[in-house]
Amino acid sequence: MEKFPKKKFQELVKIIQYHNNLYYNDDNPKISDAEYDELINDYRKIKKLFPIETKQSDLLDEIGGKPSELFSKFNHPTRMLSLDNAMSEDDLVNFQKKLSNFLNKKTNDFEFSTEPKIDGLSVNLIYKNGKLVIAATRGDGQTGENITNNVITIKDIPKLLKTKSPPTFIEIRGEIFITKDDFIKLNTENNFANPRNAAAGSLRQLDPRETAKRPLKFIAHGFGSYNGEKNNYYDQLIELKSWGIPISPFLKKVQNLNELMTIYNEINKKRAEIPYDIDGLVYKVNNLSFQNRLGIVGKSPRWAIAHKFASETAQTEIKKIDIQVGRTGSLTPVARLKPINIGGVLVSNATLHNFEEIEKKDIREGDSVIVERAGDVIPHILRVVNKNKKNRPKLFKPPKYCPICKSPTIIDPDEVVVRCSGTYICDAQKVGRLKHFVSRSALDIEGLGDKQINLFYKKGLIRDYADIFDLVAKRAIVVNFEGWGTLSFDNLINAIDQKKKIELSKFIYSLGIRFVGQINAKLISSAFSNIEEFKNFFESENDIVNALKNTDGLGPKVIQSFVEYSSIKSNKKQILKLIKKVELFIKKIDTVKSKITGKKIIFTGTLSLMSRAEAKSQAEKLGAKVVSSISKSTDILVSGENSGSKLKKAKELGVTVMNEKEWNNLTG
Ligand code: IVH
Repeated sequence: MEKFPKKKFQELVKIIQYHNNLYYNDDNPKISDAEYDELINDYRKIKKLFPIETKQSDLLDEIGGKPSELFSKFNHPTRMLSLDNAMSEDDLVNFQKKLSNFLNKKTNDFEFSTEPKIDGLSVNLIYKNGKLVIAATRGDGQTGENITNNVITIKDIPKLLKTKSPPTFIEIRGEIFITKDDFIKLNTENNFANPRNAAAGSLRQLDPRETAKRPLKFIAHGFGSYNGEKNNYYDQLIELKSWGIPISPFLKKVQNLNELMTIYNEINKKRAEIPYDIDGLVYKVNNLSFQNRLGIVGKSPRWAIAHKFASETAQTEIKKIDIQVGRTGSLTPVARLKPINIGGVLVSNATLHNFEEIEKKDIREGDSVIVERAGDVIPHILRVVNKNKKNRPKLFKPPKYCPICKSPTIIDPDEVVVRCSGTYICDAQKVGRLKHFVSRSALDIEGLGDKQINLFYKKGLIRDYADIFDLVAKRAIVVNFEGWGTLSFDNLINAIDQKKKIELSKFIYSLGIRFVGQINAKLISSAFSNIEEFKNFFESENDIVNALKNTDGLGPKVIQSFVEYSSIKSNKKQILKLIKKVELFIKKIDTVKSKITGKKIIFTGTLSLMSRAEAKSQAEKLGAKVVSSISKSTDILVSGENSGSKLKKAKELGVTVMNEKEWNNLTG
């Protein structure tokens, strides 16, 4: 059999990139179109002969695949955010309550902008002095791929802003998509699952001339770094429009929740007539200074929300009920379905949530059921429509023993959850934790997903976290696995190497400790002054409990779970082994140097000028640490109305006490 011409292939890729750059960036091609096509033909031929070895460079027609090495990485100057979802009017009322609580305002003090949530691909466009210089995909929000060469072929996107006085620097965010009609036309030749995948496939073309042929459209919906003159989002978008950037024709501003609901119902009704796929509306607080004060929680801004449209449903049959054991040991019954297409997605599994749900809805194998799917949420069963008539099996009861490790199960008294008690011996839990560790929200190792973790675990190559970083030594074994080759293995090792430097809060989150999500992980990490302290904690059990208890926002349940986790010998061993393989660091949050930098602050009583949450976030931005219990080491106590025992104790300890006004004067 012919050998894979690795060097030739790599060179070819480089040559194609070089000519792409000449053609699209410099407007100065050095070869004819025919010569260029020949290069592309060679590339295609090698790919066809060696599909496995060239898998990672597949950019010509991959659908929604992994980012390829062929596009260079790009760090967004300002992080690209996600959106929290609202599924009901109640969720919206809650959203509005949170806004008013945080800013200490009345619920009807807010004006909102509204526009549809387009189901496309998010991009970041950077214009310097009015000239488009970079276009990049969202990626993980921090780092995306540089797709400038492809994006400049999109007619909707101006290469030069139509204004005499453009900003020196602006990041414009928006959605690239394909209309429903164009999708149908395009799909006579291709086989994309839906318009979103078609847009993704079109943007991923190795040859930008191919992208140029695709009917890609663009609509802007926000900004990264930009210091404009407008004081609200709506006006900023209207200004963008005057510069030639497409914005949503449905953009509106409204004064209250009732008006939002009216628009939501109107758009929902016309959804089918809108030329592109939308899956809800996005509402944003219009006032930019409010946006700035509200800030970000986790990955989403506090000032925006996506109001999703109701789900879609379909009828199918339950073939079997299985049990899945998750990383925290929870036993979840899952219905295996006769596959069914629901709103463009093939669904073959639905979660049954818990055993109570099965009983309440009387769901059994062989029944015909209505399945509901909404957005990215796992499909679930609404109700039984036709009971299985022949030999209807008995009701599915929670098992007494874990189906995987045979440990006894326990029923959580506060929850309806049945749990496997074999936390550290159960293979399902171990695999679940490994999957979480490498998943997108945690370490995000490209090419190491559920499928690969299952395989490496089964083969005994990855048993704990540290093994991931030792995988390189297993080269001779892995390259012989079906579907694997030297190139794919090298790519995986490369991806693992890239994730060796880990920020402490991400590290803590990645361990998958119960109750320790991203926000709590951040709070826990803030209790450690440096990485040495963190290591020592696992080595010699130095006491961090007081520091944890004194971290504002960290509750006793979370602290107990974290401390319990770290007191277990096998966890200690695993973590110490892992720490040796990676490089941990603490990221300093962006703070402004101020009079209170480095100071410990405590808030007590009711504040009237701002909410407690805003005061806390402001103090942190100014470099202070907000603590929850008073001691000699506390620097300032800010006392609101009705302050009680803390104020008394502060006076006894000689801690500086301020009222809100004095605090505001100090912090500006
Ligand atoms: S605002 C400020 N507005 O939805 C938060 N996003 O789930 C940033 N999207 O990655 C987004 N239509 O790509 C915003 N009108 C719209 C949108 C929209 C679609 C996408 C966007 C983002 C994702 C968040």
